[in-house]
Amino acid sequence: MKILVLNGPNLNLLGTREPDIYGTETLADIEAEVNTCAGQLGDDIEIEFRQSNSEAELITWIGEARGQYDGIIINPAALTHTSLGLADALKAVADAVPAVEVHLSNTHAREEIRHKSLTASACIGQLMGFQGFGYMLALRALVNKLST
Ligand code: DQA
Repeated sequence: MKILVLNGPNLNLLGTREPDIYGTETLADIEAEVNTCAGQLGDDIEIEFRQSNSEAELITWIGEARGQYDGIIINPAALTHTSLGLADALKAVADAVPAVEVHLSNTHAREEIRHKSLTASACIGQLMGFQGFGYMLALRALVNKLST
């Protein structure tokens, strides 16, 4: 089972970026934890972990996922609240590559502009508010969904 984990703008800055909101783990720390978790869930789970500050690059990666990946975990970051293009890309591959949306912070407890997710309706589920641990919850949920 191949899982593509995508991270949007500014998530490369985790560790020093507003640590009171996003925690002190770096994206590399989260990647290592996701890989460990994948190994515990099964020998056959492969993780491809990527980050981009470019909306176009994220859309391209999603569009290429059909036939290559079984599922997507995505933290679209600020694009969550603005990108119809990202939502459309997720919808375009949803029949073959279901996605789970993850956020480090509880966006509903923050500014009103962060309450709306354009991408959530293109995903099978959403997890938020557990900082880096949320990625492992998302992986468990997606693997469970793909296995049943
Ligand atoms: C975020 C929440 C977004 O509102 C914000 O723009 C981010 C990170 C999160 O993981 O909590 O960059 O997606």
